[in-house]
Parts: sequence; structure tokens; C-alpha cells
Amino acid sequence: MKAKKAIASLTILTDTVLPGETNPLHNLFGGELLARMDRATSIAASRHSQEICVTVSVNHVAFSKPVPVGSILQMEAKVSRAFTSSMEVYVDVWKEDRITGEREKVNEGIYTFVAVDDHGKPVKVPELIPESALEKKRYKGALQRKELSLVLSEKLDPKKATELRSLFF
Ligand SMILES: CC(C)(COP(=O)(O)OP(=O)(O)OC[C@H]1O[C@@H](n2cnc3c(N)ncnc32)[C@H](O)[C@@H]1OP(=O)(O)O)[C@@H](O)C(=O)NCCC(=O)NCCS
Repeated sequence: MKAKKAIASLTILTDTVLPGETNPLHNLFGGELLARMDRATSIAASRHSQEICVTVSVNHVAFSKPVPVGSILQMEAKVSRAFTSSMEVYVDVWKEDRITGEREKVNEGIYTFVAVDDHGKPVKVPELIPESALEKKRYKGALQRKELSLVLSEKLDPKKATELRSLFF
């Protein structure tokens, strides 16, 4: 299976924020943003693996800034590391001012997807080649985040999380 560059999975989804998608403060409702992030990351995972991909974990989401109604919102998702059947996918969310065009990063999320066959059984995915400094940084930290996610979901004994332990000891 041929390794693929991170950039090959880049998925950009641009959309606006409608009144029905907001909270009482007229800012984008968090659940709506999560759904958009899930959609963009899932496409990135499918582009990398060329298989059906299911979300197995949302490892981290940071709602840093509110997104007012009428904003233009852009999701930029890219696979940051591929393991055996699982892939970590980062999504950076940018808000664009309708009038000035000024862009500001408002949100970031880290998702894990598993590539599966038609029966939902995990299948192998190609290795990922990081190129830019940011891609390399995210690639490097992905194994620790995978171990943390597995420990939190009680699928890995913390004593066996060697990469994660090396952060602290
Ligand atoms: C995803 C799923 C197929 C995995 O099945 P499984 O029997 O747990 O398979 P495995 O234990 O072999 O795990 C598969 C991979 O996922 C990883 N994984 C499992 N749980 C994880 C978690 N919480 N965090 C990070 N990675 C996880 C495993 O480490 C393994 O990675 P690797 O193959 O790259 O080493 C199964 O859990 C499932 O169908 N979940 C529901 C998915 C879903 O419906 N999502 C929402 C709608 S898309």
C-alpha cells in the first residue's frame, strides 16, 4: 500500500451561518459546528484511505471564539497521522468577515476515524507522509493523543501507554 502525502487529504468546506443554526446570543450553536467539523474530517479520512470511514473518537474540540450569524465559516481538515486502520484528522475552523474578508481562527478539533469494509470491520490504511512543519508537529504528537484517547475510553491500560508516560516521567 503506497504512502500518501498529508496534503492529498486536505478538505475545505465553506458555508455560512444561518439564523436557525444559532443560540440565543445569535452565535453558531456548538452542536451545529461539531456536525460540520465531523463532515469535513470524515471526507479527509475517506480521501486518505479511499474506504468507508467511521468516527471512533472526538479527541479534542476548542471553541475559542463565537461565530456570529451571517459569518462565512471555513473548515480545513487534513489527516495528521495514519496508524493501522485508524487515522487522526485535524480540523482548523476559520471565520471570514463578509465585508472585509478578514480571516480569524475560531476553533480547532481533533478526530479519530477508522476505515472499515462493507461489514464495518477495520481495514488497513496507507501510511501518511507529513511535509510542512505543522504537519510534522501534528504527526509527532498523534501517537501520544491516540494512547490518551484509548486510555480514556478504557481500551488501553495506562501502564502500557509508553508514549504517553514518556511525557510525564
Ligand atoms: C470503529 C470500530 C469499527 C472499531 O472497531 P473495534 O472492534 O474497536 O476495532 P479495533 O479495536 O481493532 O480498533 C480499530 C482501530 O481504532 C482505534 N481505536 C479504537 N478506539 C479508539 C479510541 N477511542 N480512540 C482512538 N483510537 C481508537 C484502535 O486503536 C485501532 O487503531 P489501529 O488499527 O490504527 O491500531 C467500532 O468501534 C465501531 O463500529 N464504532 C462505531 C462507529 C460509529 O458508528 N461512529 C459514528 C458514526 S460515523
